[in-house]
Amino acid sequence: MAEPVLVVKNLTKIYRSRRGDIVAVDNVSFRVYKNEVVGLLGPNGAGKTTIIKSICTILRPTAGEIWVDGADAIRNPRAALEKVAAVLEGNRNVYWRLTVKDNLEFFAGLQGQSLRSVRSYIDELIEMFNLKEKVHEQARALSRGMQQKLAVACALVKRTPILLLDEPTLGLDVETSYELRWILKRMAERGERTILLSSHDMNVVQDICERVIIINHGRIVVDDKIENLKRLFTASAYRFEIEGHFNQTQEQKLKEQFDLIKISRDSSRTVIEAELLDGQKVYEIIDVLKENGCRLESVGKQYPDLEEIFLRIVKGEKR
Ligand SMILES: Nc1ncnc2c1ncn2[C@@H]1O[C@H](COP(=O)(O)OP(=O)(O)OP(=O)(O)O)[C@@H](O)[C@H]1O
Ligand SMILES: [Mg+2]
Repeated sequence: MAEPVLVVKNLTKIYRSRRGDIVAVDNVSFRVYKNEVVGLLGPNGAGKTTIIKSICTILRPTAGEIWVDGADAIRNPRAALEKVAAVLEGNRNVYWRLTVKDNLEFFAGLQGQSLRSVRSYIDELIEMFNLKEKVHEQARALSRGMQQKLAVACALVKRTPILLLDEPTLGLDVETSYELRWILKRMAERGERTILLSSHDMNVVQDICERVIIINHGRIVVDDKIENLKRLFTASAYRFEIEGHFNQTQEQKLKEQFDLIKISRDSSRTVIEAELLDGQKVYEIIDVLKENGCRLESVGKQYPDLEEIFLRIVKGEKR
């Protein structure tokens, strides 16, 4: 996996306006290797779309370098465009008056592929995206979800080394979102595409990405395998279950002494989740609970999911 297909180096994008400059992307560097599927995460306004648009040459960065499969995206955008296909945020970039099949053939042709060489792949995509019944429908007559699927299929049919997907499941119903997720997952497992994908849906990311790059305020705060992040966050997160509830003063005291992640309660129990970097702290928190007359039901490691890890990273950043 030593060969990077996408190299982003010191990328900066400043939007200039009369009301002042906005630094949307601030000195971002990362690499994506062949057949890797990488998730680009970050809160609203973090700079994800700006990065993706810069890679597919729609935006001209203020500074930095972008290389797509060896092509210089800034000095030679035309060459870079042959290497990358993108589906942008909410933009179902297909031709409304062309049928499903004609759209697929058109986008394949754009990349200079002969119809003969691509025909069986088009059939495969139609099958995969479950668009068989609609092949002869015009794109405008499709539902939103189907249009989105068609847009992704049209990006795939170009068979470029890199595929960029900005929020591919946004606004889809549960079933279509799941279907698209499943298609992408299968592609990721087969290891046949290099994909950079942005999403707010952690299920999507968790399902198909091996690595995530988290950005906040235009900067990278994490670039690591999901597996590593989980290990890292599990090591220090504990969960205490207590019979009954405790009062405000007790809660305040705990908050002052320990790094609490969350306190939740139901009718008969209280659950405290805490980040305890030092194992000794586990005993300290138990002592405090005892002193306050709380009955401990269980203590254990907390296994955070990607959503929680993401929130903790992003919140930690703001602090
Ligand atoms: N054309 C533009 N002109 C001025 N500012 C812009 C423009 N496009 C984006 N921005 C600003 O740049 C920053 C990054 O925006 P961007 O769209 O890249 O974020 P994002 O991570 O994709 O967010 P979201 O999750 O909401 O899609 C934001 O502060 C945004 O307001
Ligand atoms: Mg965006």
